Amino acid sequence: MHSADPNRYDARMPYRRCGDSGLLLPEISLGCWHNFGHVDDQHEARAILRRAFDRGITHFDLANNYGPPPGSAEENVGRILAEDFAAHRDELLISTKAGHEMWRGPYGEWGSRKHLLASLDQSLKRLRLDYVDIFYSHRPDPNTRLEETMSALATAVHSGRALYVGLSKYPLKALKKAVRILKDMGVPCTIYQPPYSILNRWPEAEGIHDWLEEKGIGSVVFSPLAQGMLSGKYIDTIPDGSRAARSDGFLQASQVTAQLEKIRALHQIASERGISLQHLALRWVLDHSSVTSAIIGARNVTQLDDSLAALQAPKLDVETLALIDAISPALKKDDAEA
Ligand SMILES: NC(=O)c1ccc[n+]([C@@H]2O[C@H](COP(=O)([O-])OP(=O)(O)OC[C@H]3O[C@@H](n4cnc5c(N)ncnc54)[C@H](OP(=O)(O)O)[C@@H]3O)[C@@H](O)[C@H]2O)c1
Repeated sequence: MHSADPNRYDARMPYRRCGDSGLLLPEISLGCWHNFGHVDDQHEARAILRRAFDRGITHFDLANNYGPPPGSAEENVGRILAEDFAAHRDELLISTKAGHEMWRGPYGEWGSRKHLLASLDQSLKRLRLDYVDIFYSHRPDPNTRLEETMSALATAVHSGRALYVGLSKYPLKALKKAVRILKDMGVPCTIYQPPYSILNRWPEAEGIHDWLEEKGIGSVVFSPLAQGMLSGKYIDTIPDGSRAARSDGFLQASQVTAQLEKIRALHQIASERGISLQHLALRWVLDHSSVTSAIIGARNVTQLDDSLAALQAPKLDVETLALIDAISPALKKDDAEA
């Protein structure tokens, strides 16, 4: 059992209300997409979760397919939760998701009731939990009626397998419809999970953030460091062992190269203000009122501490925000990809 820091709620970690729900989220949440699979260092994984909890991070974000191999992040986090955090279950918000490719055959992905509910049952087993706090539809399914996907989320709540439900990466039109269907089923959509960083502003450009605020739905945004591109490590080179240097293809070296000019300009802005690029990037995300929490990733405790230190950095002033807008304006998805 982890002997948790008694000072973990000492106000270093602010908590924000998730939309108009009763749920409070830490400004920084921890994601387990990378660094928690069977391929990763289990001692470091445990150390990261312990430090996160000790610093007031009450929200750990997972998905069925996180690893590699898929499912292994849930297995490893589940084991650590059982061994270290069993006494703290009610202090933790654990989320998982279903929708991306998970197992072979016609029911292993997308948005059918069959996939979502079978996947949730598998996740609960791997996580060694009776329920998850948040269950997400991980992506919209163009071939399944939204009513069916939403009915699976509603069943997850009605059957006690999840306390809250959320949607990830839905475009605004589908999001609006899905939220309405869920409401009619008596299960509010509590939370939305989009990517969001200085380098990826499509949810803002497409009006999603404004709409979520208007509707009282929280937004927990992922990859606020653009998968590490805004950590400052890629300014001069692609370091060995970094995500862009690994062969799993989640962050290609070519993506880094394509953004390098912007990254360097942002780094310059941060340096002139005496802060790191990492802190500039995280402050920028957190200074948006529509954001409930930023889900960061960390390969080790030092990286986690670097991100947590952003909480103490000052808010960005209007002049800095204008400079950032000029370097990396909010573009809709199609315009950004053009
Ligand atoms: N809903 C979805 O579809 C979806 C999609 C993606 C992510 N997510 C969620 O969001 C979470 C976070 O995503 P993310 O990992 O891309 O977040 P991120 O915070 O943008 O990137 C984290 C990565 O940046 C690098 N980094 C962080 N601090 C550093 C430092 N001080 N120095 C050098 N490098 C540093 C590390 O990668 P290195 O390995 O290079 O060191 C670290 O793993 C995921 O775990 C997942 O829970 C959800």
